[in-house]
Formats: sequence, C-alpha cells, structure tokens
Amino acid sequence: MKILAIETSCDETGAAVVEKTGNSIQVVSNITATSIALHAATGGIIPENAAREQVKMILPVIVSTLLESEKTEQTGNAGKDFEEANKILKEKIDAIAVTHGPGLIGSLLVGVETAKTLSFIFNKPLIPVNHLLAHIFANFISSDKIEFPLIGLIVSGGHTDLLFFNSLNEYRWLGGTRDDAAGEALDKIGRLLNLSYPAGPEIEQRAKKIAKPKLSFTSPMIYDEGFDFSFSGLKAEVMRFVQKNNSLNENQKNEICFAVQKAVIDVLVKKTLSAVEKYKVRTVLLGGGVSTNQKLHKEFEGKIKELDLNVHVLSPKKQYTTDNAAMIGAHALLVNKPVDWRKIHAIPDLYFE
Ligand code: KG4
Ligand code: ZN
Repeated sequence: MKILAIETSCDETGAAVVEKTGNSIQVVSNITATSIALHAATGGIIPENAAREQVKMILPVIVSTLLESEKTEQTGNAGKDFEEANKILKEKIDAIAVTHGPGLIGSLLVGVETAKTLSFIFNKPLIPVNHLLAHIFANFISSDKIEFPLIGLIVSGGHTDLLFFNSLNEYRWLGGTRDDAAGEALDKIGRLLNLSYPAGPEIEQRAKKIAKPKLSFTSPMIYDEGFDFSFSGLKAEVMRFVQKNNSLNENQKNEICFAVQKAVIDVLVKKTLSAVEKYKVRTVLLGGGVSTNQKLHKEFEGKIKELDLNVHVLSPKKQYTTDNAAMIGAHALLVNKPVDWRKIHAIPDLYFE
C-alpha cells in the first residue's frame, strides 16, 4: 500500500510518499518546506504568517514529492509538472493521509482542505492522523522490530506528553505538561538570552562548553509522583536570574544553558523511567524535536544503568523528529482508519481520545 501524506499543523509544509511492505515502512519521498526563517525574525511563530506560507507552499511541495516518488525530474514548466503529478497520484497512490490536529487552525486548514479536495477528485480513501501520535510512530520508519507494550514520550515545541501503548491501536495518556512544553520553554529561555530561534540546538551546544557547572535551576515537578510536567516555573526562575545579573557574558550564558538543559532533562528522564517501571515495559519511543538532544540520550543511558533496567530508548532518525509528513504516513499505514472526507475537519485542540 502506498500513501501520499500531508502535514501542515504549524510552520512546516510536508508531503511524503510512504509505502508498507510486510511490516516495514519505506519512505519513498519526503519533502519539508519550512517557514522557520520568517519566524526567527519575530522570535516566535505568528499564526497568520505561518498559514500564509502554508498556502504558498502546499501545492509545490505535493507536486515535488509525487514527482520524486517516481524519480521524475521537474521540468520547471508548472503545467507539465502538475500533469505528471496528477498521473502519479491517480495511478500509483492508494490513499491520502493528513494531519487533522492538533495545531494552528490556519495552518491545519490548508492541509486538511487540500487533502479533502484531492480525496474527492481522485476518489482515494482519506486517513486523518493525530500529529502527536505520529511523532511517536516516526520510530517505526527506522525499525520494524519494535516490541509492545511500550512508553512513548513526546517532547516537541508544542507538546510534552507521556503515553502507554499496549499495541499500535491501544494506548493511554499518562500525563503531560500543565503549561509550557519542554521545547517551548527552551525557546522562550533562548529569547531571554538572545539565542538563535529555535533555541534547543544552541542551548545544547552551549551546555557542552561547561565542564564544572556552578549554577543550577529547579527541575520542575521532579518530586511529584504523577506523570504531569510543568516548565513555565523554570522560565520564570531563569528570567529572575537574568534580571538580577544584567549584561551576561558568554560564559554565564553557557552556564545558564547547562543548568536549564539539566533541569529539563532530569525531569523528563525521571518520569519516563518511573512509567517504565510502573508499566513494566522494555521499550521507550521518543518523538519530537527535543528528542534529537544527545544529552537527553546520555542521561537515559546513565539512569538505565544506575537503576539496572532492561529497557531500550529509541528515537526517530533526525529528519523524522521535527514536523514532517513521513511520520503522518507511517501512522496512517500502521493504524489505517480511513474516514469519509465529508466528516474530516481541522481540529486545533485535538488531543488523545
Ligand atoms: O517537533 P518540533 O518541530 O515542534 C513541534 O512539532 O511542536 O520541535 C521543535 C522543538 C523546538 O522547541 C526546538 O528548540 C527543539 O525542538 N529542539 C531541541 C533540539 N533541537 C530542536 N531541543 C533540545 N535540543 C536540541 N538539540
Ligand atoms: Zn510536531
């Protein structure tokens, strides 16, 4: 089965052709256009701007990914390329998958309405996909030997959630952030320190420069028994520190980055491994942009040894950690629940059933 998948929940416009043979998922083509440079200038995403970029990019990205899936060179003649893409969609694609939520309403609508139109015109089944579950399912792109039951940890710019999966279809939400997501806190702290946007990668690089840390921040809710998180208090603590110590030098900024990264990682690792012990699983799947952080992986390794746990922590390949359409296709292929296009709507606050 071959699927055209579409992702437009935030500031990335993604289209992918994804195929399943046996249990394994192959990404035939995957294109992501990002409007991140535009948002870097404003220090964060302005939803109206993100939606306008989605409108500009959606058709060129879909056409390019369809052509690439059949190794067809683009001619540069828009009419000819569209004609060729139409043919591929008609003859080679079995179904269409689209992110229906959660996300920014303007951005989501672009993908959802495009997918509904294509489903109607080409008479293809349409599969709506929960963007958050897809972040976890991105792990199945690299591996078809993932064992259930498992714990999923979504750590992205918009979300921090812990889930228990009994199988592909049966899952339970264990807890999530009560305020800012982990990535969002890093980005907002980055803004306080005048770092690049999004700040996660720069915070990781700066933290590496600190061999003997002198500073520490509170790791929020680390002593709380449940599986909820909170990161806005950390942001406030850093803000107070920055206000007290105006004109920070580079080394002080590195110290802050180290302490912030540690506070975030410590609570993520602690709560995920408590879920591992409570639900007796041997696999943890990470997903979302923060899961590329190498220190997060090192801390997991260290704690797993210390607690003598038999558990593997996996994360998707880097290109499938941040928003992309291949992960939407992977979820659609594995769970495969088509819905009549008339019943599909963009749901900005879609969460877990
Ligand atoms: O998954 P994603 O694209 O966001 C949403 O779908 O919401 O992830 C973006 C987030 C940003 O907050 C960014 O700062 C963070 O992932 N990030 C990182 C790293 N690379 C990206 N955080 C920590 N360390 C990194 N290396
Ligand atoms: Zn995402």
